Amino acid sequence: MNKLFSTFLLILLTIQFSGQAQESRTDWWSEARFGMFIHWGLYSGAEGIWKGEKHRHFNNYAEWIKYRNRISNEEYGELAKRFVWEDINPEEWVIQAKKAGMHYITITAKHHDGFALWNTKVGNYSFKNYDPESRDILAELAAACKKHDMKLGFYYSHWVDWEHPYGWDHNRELTQDLSDEQFDEYWQEKVIPQLRELLTNYGDVALLWFDMWLGHEETIVQEKQLRQVISLVRELQPNCLINSRLGLPVSDPDIDYETMGDNQLGAVYQKNPWQTPGTIAHSWGYHALENDWKSSNQLLQALINNVSLNGNFMLNIGPRADGSLPYESVSRLDDMGRWLEINGESIYGAGGLELRPKQHDWGKISFKKEQGKAKVFLHVFNWPLDKNLRITGITSNPTKAYLLADKLQKPLDFTQSGPLIHIHLPFRQPDPFVSVVVLEFPDNVNLAKELAAESSFGGIALHAGNTLEENLEISRLEAPNRMVSPEHLNLKMDQQISWRVYIAEAGNKKLSISFANPSGKEIKAEIQAIDQKREVSLAPTGKVVVEPNQNYYTEEFVDLSLGEMEFNEVGYYTIKFKVLDKAPDPVRFNRIWME
Ligand code: GLC
Repeated sequence: MNKLFSTFLLILLTIQFSGQAQESRTDWWSEARFGMFIHWGLYSGAEGIWKGEKHRHFNNYAEWIKYRNRISNEEYGELAKRFVWEDINPEEWVIQAKKAGMHYITITAKHHDGFALWNTKVGNYSFKNYDPESRDILAELAAACKKHDMKLGFYYSHWVDWEHPYGWDHNRELTQDLSDEQFDEYWQEKVIPQLRELLTNYGDVALLWFDMWLGHEETIVQEKQLRQVISLVRELQPNCLINSRLGLPVSDPDIDYETMGDNQLGAVYQKNPWQTPGTIAHSWGYHALENDWKSSNQLLQALINNVSLNGNFMLNIGPRADGSLPYESVSRLDDMGRWLEINGESIYGAGGLELRPKQHDWGKISFKKEQGKAKVFLHVFNWPLDKNLRITGITSNPTKAYLLADKLQKPLDFTQSGPLIHIHLPFRQPDPFVSVVVLEFPDNVNLAKELAAESSFGGIALHAGNTLEENLEISRLEAPNRMVSPEHLNLKMDQQISWRVYIAEAGNKKLSISFANPSGKEIKAEIQAIDQKREVSLAPTGKVVVEPNQNYYTEEFVDLSLGEMEFNEVGYYTIKFKVLDKAPDPVRFNRIWME
């Protein structure tokens, strides 16, 4: 073999091999879908209050109190004395995670405060130096996870460290007094040796969760420092996953999964592994004065939403300094666990169907292939009043429909016309939160992805989110008007948008358009379906009063009937809309409604 060719082959094999290695590393994680985040540290002893004063920032993250309320290392360290060690039992967190149906745990080994939860030999900022009664909580947690067959990962704040004189602290933006050399000193004497401890002394580490919400180029952290961390992880625990908040892009082969913004749920289907870190209320660490708890149903829907877009959900608990959890957290976790016990098949190991993200107004869809069969799980958030569940976009023929909660799998009646499936639902929804209907297919599921979906009650809304044209710039009015106006497209002369629909019953359909025309003059537009064209005149529109007596007005979007159009045959149609006139101000297009 010639040398050049063999080198080429080697490179090719290496690329393939490392690609495969990465895929199998994240398999368990993608399969798991639901994990527990634990924020627990000295801040749990403060509970969002310092010397009688509430945490000083509207973003009530209790774990930021050291920075926000300007607390010294020493005084902050004294919080360790508030910990009630005889009551602290990390096994209870693991049992709670199990009960909630979670498959992995990530705990804040070291948060931004720089304080280590374990008995680190690096520096003296850890429990053992502040409270002789304290124990190595990570060792206990690791043992409990092993006992209960739970994967364990560590959050480690690598960039921000408010304890070390050379760690990053946001106030350095003002003082500008940290050199690259000093930061590297922090890196070499704290970050690297502490990570080495975490990766050596606590058994299998399933994942490391770094927390830099910017690309490293925007920070003091250098790429070579991040590569050093990666090499350490790969050397000590080759299967340990690394998240994108390390500070490198998801496209980097060493980033195993993408972490979205805090509480940022998925909006589009993504092939790469990704997750949302979420809170039950707002703060991550326990906050005594916090009261905005999300409902169990909201949290379940967040999990389902992410799975339907091929993502994970990692839900946080903030235990108190005695290890206990507020009832609000426990009750929600238990609700989720009970739901997953019955409906877990639609979550674990399931992914999404690559339909439009907000295709159906009644809920979300997940998908799984099992023993040759394909299963589509319809998560019904809103049980239709007419008991008719409308699904748009699946062209394969289902063999069976049934409720996931029904052990006998009593078949539900359904009809199919092309890509439209209508399922006749029972009178009552089986679950108080989200009820799941299963559609089974013999092998695979074919999709008509481009279709605009039928609404609940019938009818089709053609709007900015379901056009055939991709990457349209969807506009929202500026705040505060955005709160009262629909998302819309700004359309200029000759600009055309189009949609694909399926008409299941031949005959006439009524059409109407919703728009605003602030240009002060009439604008002509045209709507077209096959060979039928209809010209329409969009009269100038005015304003609408949002709040009386506050001089607060916004654009009025009005509805205009377009009459009827004929659809003489059952089948697929393309509908087009185009603005014909030049106008000083574009037409604000909201939607066309067909029924
Ligand atoms: C943010 C916060 C932090 C929290 C984290 C969780 O980065 O700085 O306090 O731990 O998000 O996602």
